[in-house]
Amino acid sequence: MAKNWDLIITGGEVFTPSGLVAADVAVADGRIADIGALDAGRADEVLDAKGLTVLPGVIDTQVHFREPGLEQKEDLESGTRAAVMGGVTAVFEMPNTSPATIDAAALNEKLTRAEGRAWCDHAFFIGAAAENAERLGELERLPGCCGVKIFMGSSTGTLLVHEEDVLRQVLRHGHRRVAVHSEDEARLRERFELIREGGKVSQHPEWRDVETAVRSTKRLLRLAREAGRRIHVLHVTTAEEVPLLAAARDIATMEVTPQHLTLAAPYCYEELGSLAQMNPPIREARHREALWEAVRLGIVDVIGSDHAPHSREEKQAPYPRSPSGMPGVQTLLPLLLDHMNAGRLSVERLVDLTSTGAQRIYNIAGKGRIAVGYDGDFTLVDLNAKRTVEHDWLQSKCDWSPFEGKPVTGWPMATVIRGHVAMRDGELLGGPTGRPVRFTETLPPAAG
Ligand code: DOR
Repeated sequence: MAKNWDLIITGGEVFTPSGLVAADVAVADGRIADIGALDAGRADEVLDAKGLTVLPGVIDTQVHFREPGLEQKEDLESGTRAAVMGGVTAVFEMPNTSPATIDAAALNEKLTRAEGRAWCDHAFFIGAAAENAERLGELERLPGCCGVKIFMGSSTGTLLVHEEDVLRQVLRHGHRRVAVHSEDEARLRERFELIREGGKVSQHPEWRDVETAVRSTKRLLRLAREAGRRIHVLHVTTAEEVPLLAAARDIATMEVTPQHLTLAAPYCYEELGSLAQMNPPIREARHREALWEAVRLGIVDVIGSDHAPHSREEKQAPYPRSPSGMPGVQTLLPLLLDHMNAGRLSVERLVDLTSTGAQRIYNIAGKGRIAVGYDGDFTLVDLNAKRTVEHDWLQSKCDWSPFEGKPVTGWPMATVIRGHVAMRDGELLGGPTGRPVRFTETLPPAAG
């Protein structure tokens, strides 16, 4: 019989909408063509998945890749390379670059720079600002755009919208779900006095305290409801925000990061110093446990890494001049697999949080499940592999990870993007072939 598939993945346990099944999966023209007991002779390329679990491609919906403007920390090539090595097939990149991504030209610049250099599929956020508020309805519909991002509290970069009237304007212009960094700017400014002179990094969660997050999230929920706008609250860190978001499921979705599920204050600051500094902060164990409870109860919709690389030298500046953020796109899946192995979440929950949830929140076209007709995006994992997060394995330009030296059980063994095997056994294969992610809300109208 003529060969009519480009790739077949054979002998794995495949996570389908009907559950985990022993099956082969065929890909033709970048899309899943068949699932079942298939004839490997019909494919040009065979990927042996014996002993492995074939998951829908992992989508990381929050990364900062620093290009343009801060390429010494990361660029689109190195950031997406880290993603693919960690089993991630698509990323959504944040707008706090330099210049900030606040207009069509800046978005197109990123898309052009990613062409032929991005190892995985990608989309870019448009940053909300007073000057583009009225144009956000058009901007959010541009190809390659995953939506609008609001920084309600200042973090890395210059983007910030905290005035009530501007927030209202932003929320009233456009229809797609808006992603929000929710910390109260007024309270951050008030409390900065605590650490302005000679603070310690362990005070980071004291400066950016629980009330800073809660006050902002309450305000955001009120304004979103008033505007009739769906929101996505990024990197939620407090036990107190969980019931607020659970009570607003009609308009709100919620993200947590692997680091907020893994680390806890004060130990993380004792062990890692400013490497553990990020916004919003890593807090005490009671918050971490509340976030796990929110994972169990289905309140958390997605896990994003908030990959935010800074150089070691920058991190060594005395607090609070040390920048906030840590890399994480490459360790997102190993950490979650390790948590899964420790019994903290099931494979179903893991897939929901790393792939299907992303599809649901952002209305991604053709990704997020292993089903015929969907993109051939797969993350092949060995659930039992015992590995250590080694320095040499890391790809980020920042060249460190807070999890370096951590032993984990469960490891990404291959990354397949639209039928192209981009990583196998820790080796990158072929070249960067990433393309812009498409969204059902902004697909071009059918021809004719
Ligand atoms: O810690 C953080 N770092 N939080 C953010 O919101 C931004 C990020 C960055 O870009 O460095």
